[in-house]
Amino acid sequence: MTQKATILAIESSCDETAIAILRGDLMRTEILSSEISSQIEIHREHGGVVPELASRNHSLALRPLVDKALAEAKLSIHDIDAFAATAGPGLASSLLIGHTAAKAMAVATKKPFLSINHMEGHLLSPFIAGDRGVLPNISLVVSGGHTMILHTQEFGSYQLLGKSTDDAAGEAYDKVAKMLGLPYPGGPEIEKTAKTGNPDAYNFPRSMLKKGNLDFSFSGLKTAVLYTISELNPETGRALPEQLPDLCASFQQAVIDVLVKKTIQAAQASKLTRITMSGGVSCNGALRDAMLDACQRHSFQLDICSKHLSTDNAAMIAYVALQKFLRGEQSKLDADIDPNLPLNALVLRK
Ligand code: KG4
Ligand code: ZN
Repeated sequence: MTQKATILAIESSCDETAIAILRGDLMRTEILSSEISSQIEIHREHGGVVPELASRNHSLALRPLVDKALAEAKLSIHDIDAFAATAGPGLASSLLIGHTAAKAMAVATKKPFLSINHMEGHLLSPFIAGDRGVLPNISLVVSGGHTMILHTQEFGSYQLLGKSTDDAAGEAYDKVAKMLGLPYPGGPEIEKTAKTGNPDAYNFPRSMLKKGNLDFSFSGLKTAVLYTISELNPETGRALPEQLPDLCASFQQAVIDVLVKKTIQAAQASKLTRITMSGGVSCNGALRDAMLDACQRHSFQLDICSKHLSTDNAAMIAYVALQKFLRGEQSKLDADIDPNLPLNALVLRK
């Protein structure tokens, strides 16, 4: 496949406004620019994302960010072959801003528009900027809203093997961080605090580790942390600063053990040789080390993208859009956002 295209994509599903320009064919892609305007500082004082503030700040950030991405790529808007945006899952008012802006640019330049599933973006992000297209693999996707294991056969053909029955791994990180009085977002804070802690200090539960069951449950772990905080501090119910490292390290180890074991089980059952890991939680250094170590012991090839492409970004949306566009797909201009866009929408495609 030698046909090439240039895609400009917008990601605005939550609290990051992101624009990326990606150029390539079905095999080889190059990120020409990838800009992110983070709203973390705005939402931190509220302890989580405030949808109203998120959408207002998306509309403020978007226009200058498009200009910056085009300048970085040394392109004009007329050099773009198609415009794409995240359709869901995410916050409705945030999705609408990016989705509508991408449609407007498509209409103004008379170019196609593509409406993209955010989770397909995370799923395929380990292949961005590679040179062999999407390869068959067992994929662990661990974000704030989803934890799942899929069998990716090729682009557009995915089988869901397991998912969280309650909280996603990232959600568990964020909720436990809140219980411990750590700021939002919790994942990076827990990782930092865990560095000086003992992962064996508390034996927190590793749920649903039965062989063959690839679903996850993190709510029991969350409750176990809560009970331990109360037992340690019956008067206040609040953890002391000196208790935080061991609590964080033990919680994190319980999450990692389950994620790694289930991914390896899935890969062994599949007979595939490649594992990918993506989504915000895959930024976690201890998880990366543990997954890499397990993959080396069991002779699996592991593909994880850079941290910049693990958390929400627009390059992953552009990558899915490019794959679709070069296969002749595009979305109608009345395509709607869907805050609850199910993964089934992509698992069943093809
Ligand atoms: O993929 P993502 O950026 O957005 C969603 O689609 O949800 O994931 C965000 C999640 C948050 O729950 C955040 O706490 C978690 O990823 N996260 C981490 C780390 N960095 C981000 N969790 C653990 N360790 C990290 N270093
Ligand atoms: Zn995400």
